[in-house]
Amino acid sequence: MSAGPVLEARGVSKSYGGLKAVNDISFSVMPGEILGIVGPNGAGKTTLFDVISGHTRASGGEVVLDGAVVTDASVHDRTRRGIARTFQQPTVARSLSVLENMLLATSFRRRRPEGDERSSLEAAYDMLAFVGLESRAEETAGLLGVFDTKRLMLGTALASGARALLLDEPFGGLSFGEIELTMDLIRRSRGEDLAVVCIEHVMRALTSLADRVLVMHHGAAFFEGSPEEMLRDERVIEVYLGSRHRREAAQ
Ligand SMILES: Nc1ncnc2c1ncn2[C@@H]1O[C@H](COP(=O)(O)OP(=O)(O)OP(=O)(O)O)[C@@H](O)[C@H]1O
Ligand SMILES: [Mg+2]
Repeated sequence: MSAGPVLEARGVSKSYGGLKAVNDISFSVMPGEILGIVGPNGAGKTTLFDVISGHTRASGGEVVLDGAVVTDASVHDRTRRGIARTFQQPTVARSLSVLENMLLATSFRRRRPEGDERSSLEAAYDMLAFVGLESRAEETAGLLGVFDTKRLMLGTALASGARALLLDEPFGGLSFGEIELTMDLIRRSRGEDLAVVCIEHVMRALTSLADRVLVMHHGAAFFEGSPEEMLRDERVIEVYLGSRHRREAAQ
């Protein structure tokens, strides 16, 4: 694989009527790198993911995967090329079992690594074991709790053989211990050539996980740098961290 970025956004914009939900955002993520995206509610983080994954059409700019422009490709085509995502709201096939959800993902495996002779069923069980859901295989996915649903979403996203993994608030609604377990899963799944972009409000988790952070505000890029630099940045503290810290302290 090339040594260039796995995923690039080049001046990406998305308008809804008069609202510039995403305004000229650019970033690139290298193989094995984790980019964190933070910002106040409504900053445009999820909309940016929607544009990258193809769930909504860009108003401007380009999305580039492994050097190829995919801005006009369908969601299906982007999945096939290696863009996988999880959603802020739990999204699993609710009426199917946990195993059936995973089988759907493994049967669409984009690429089989050299020597991977596993059947889709074996690959599905391996991924269920990886995310800790082996014992839940026969349960109905719609009846899972928040943590198990999030683990299933992460597992099915990974099972497609992604090159770029987009995670939309993977720690939202989780307990302290569940956050630790999820961080460990994300760290272990970042292979040499997987690029991860992670939207998250849980600062402690994001700053320990991310190599770099992009702060969005009113759709635009407000800051980009290391987690340590972000935590020290006066402007970031003013528009984002300050209010969150006050809210968290009050709770
Ligand atoms: N389909 C849509 N139609 C119209 N406006 C939209 C649509 N989707 C998002 N928006 C608007 O775009 C802006 C950005 O929303 P978005 O969901 O991307 O923010 P976010 O940063 O993910 O926020 P949060 O932290 O609350 O998840 C908001 O003002 C939102 O109301
Ligand atoms: Mg969002």
